[in-house]
Amino acid sequence: MAESLSVKSKRFLKALNGEAIDRPPFWLMRQAGRYLPEYLAVRATPPDFVAFCLDPEKACAVTLQPIDRFGMDAAILFADILLVPHGLGQRVRFVEGEGPRLDPVTDGAGIDRLTREGFHDKVGAVYETVRLLAKRLPGDVALIGFAGAPWTVATYMVAGQGTSDQKPARLWAYRDPEGFGRLIDLVTEVTIDYLAAQVEAGAEAIQIFDTWAGSLPEAEMRRWVFAPIARIRAALKARFPHVPVIGFAKGIGAMLPELAPATGVEAVGIDAAVPLSFVRDRVQPGAVVQGNLDPLLLVAGGAALERGIDELLSTLGPRRFVFNLGHGVVPETPPDHVAALARRIRSWTP
Ligand code: CP3
Repeated sequence: MAESLSVKSKRFLKALNGEAIDRPPFWLMRQAGRYLPEYLAVRATPPDFVAFCLDPEKACAVTLQPIDRFGMDAAILFADILLVPHGLGQRVRFVEGEGPRLDPVTDGAGIDRLTREGFHDKVGAVYETVRLLAKRLPGDVALIGFAGAPWTVATYMVAGQGTSDQKPARLWAYRDPEGFGRLIDLVTEVTIDYLAAQVEAGAEAIQIFDTWAGSLPEAEMRRWVFAPIARIRAALKARFPHVPVIGFAKGIGAMLPELAPATGVEAVGIDAAVPLSFVRDRVQPGAVVQGNLDPLLLVAGGAALERGIDELLSTLGPRRFVFNLGHGVVPETPPDHVAALARRIRSWTP
């Protein structure tokens, strides 16, 4: 079968499978983006960011840019987590220099205005991007599809923008858990369809981004972070048993060892604040781990960057480990520093 052939030849898929490999695979969250002049050149043409994400030729081109330049072991589909609310009929736009703006959903009537009808038509361009990538990627590079986790997507849908504390969604969840649960259920169900369509189009692994998981206390984390991710993971497993899922729940610290057992994900993304000894002793025994270099080390460069890379490789490598950052590449990152990182990982020996 195609799946087992890919696993045999792709370092990234082998690592997710727990197999022995020569060196850890690497890719970087937000590896396509504003730190690359060739990205800015493509980004300058479409009228707005949503239209850019929904232009398969352009999205495919920028997905391939970091692979061509640095030779990562995996490419992540270029899109955005807010395409799911767009697909549900919520108005989503990106304001230059400010970030995303959505018409907020604040009550049951707001949920009733959303609709799954026409979802695939509204986001179908994403599946076309995946099909193009599956054809155009180098043979040893794996293709990652993704979506936001329902909790993080809901924080934007409810606030209508990014927030530092996710207050609107947290308050709704406390005051009216059943009403808020209806929103989470809707986003969960449509996210399953969205990710399944990405796999059908050629995605070989899936990452679920729960950027704001860390703003919830334990009981709420189980209900709004773990449970929806578990539902998504189970639904995908039933249809595509060979496709591994990475759960990236940022900021959950001491709850990290529970993420894989509670949700069924094969791999766990780690943010930069988690101590490596904790990852090695408490998380890695139960899951493949991915992370967690501080994105600002990639801005600083030099000896600090080299030390950070070496420490990560020697503590968590070579097995059950995917090298990545603890969060996305920031726009100030010099591309030369990414090139230096790629060289260092490639020449590493255990
Ligand atoms: O990693 C990749 O290279 C794949 C593409 C990708 C983007 N967004 C492209 C993007 C992925 C995986 C995302 C996920 C995403 N989007 C998350 C979860 C991960 C994270 O970073 O925490 C979140 C919270 C969003 C929502 C979002 N999209 C915000 C808050 C913003 C504005 C902030 C910013 O950095 O500008 C975006 C815009 C966005 N998404 C850009 C990119 C490359 C920048 C847009 C530009 O080119 O101007």
